[in-house]
Amino acid sequence: MSRFLVKPVKAHKAAVCYHNPTMKNLAVFCSGFGSNLQAIIRATQRGKIKARIGLVFSDKIDAYALVRAKRAHIPIAYADPARFKNRVDYDKHILGVLQKKKIDFVVLAGFMRILTPYFVRRFKNRILNIHPALLPLFKGVEGIKDALRYGVKVTGVTVHFVNEELDAGPVILQAAIAVKEDDTFDSLAKRIHRLEHRLYPEAIRLLVQGKLVISGRKVFIRKRK
Ligand code: GRF
Repeated sequence: MSRFLVKPVKAHKAAVCYHNPTMKNLAVFCSGFGSNLQAIIRATQRGKIKARIGLVFSDKIDAYALVRAKRAHIPIAYADPARFKNRVDYDKHILGVLQKKKIDFVVLAGFMRILTPYFVRRFKNRILNIHPALLPLFKGVEGIKDALRYGVKVTGVTVHFVNEELDAGPVILQAAIAVKEDDTFDSLAKRIHRLEHRLYPEAIRLLVQGKLVISGRKVFIRKRK
């Protein structure tokens, strides 16, 4: 198999004004199931997010997210991390792909790799992530499990800008839900994901409309342009 695979596919037939050159161009990075990707695709198709998804990138060839992207006629790219000398080389490769596709913003949606500072600096304030807990609590890959194990009564979802520190960038939006006494991982995860699918498209909408202003650790949402 070649070192990487880039498959440009036909234009996204359902996206509103796909060819509008003033529209921001998003790359969504996924490693797995891609339910957030699906919510973002839906929001672009319905015109809630006025941007196009120019690329779905994955580090896992079998990520179901890639199937979702193909179904929506979105170009996909995959690169096998094992074939690169180190993390920076891998990230340089991704940056090359993003440059070719003229990507404006990177949206991490279940991407299970930590981007290097090299990458983050080149997309400073242009990378978003969603985390299944109320940051700064329960950072890392087990946000839902850790909240449940800790016994918190309230948990939630955070959308934030990505900086060089893990799960520590300025917070864009947060939403909370109650943890029920009889919650299991599955029942809580289901409610968290439902919340994510509302919150992430909303944060991306604000981003592409230029409504987010970062000032130090704070993100302000402009009421008007
Ligand atoms: C989500 O819970 C997100 O918060 C976390 O990874 C999960 C991805 O789920 N970063 P999906 O692949 O979008 O279904």
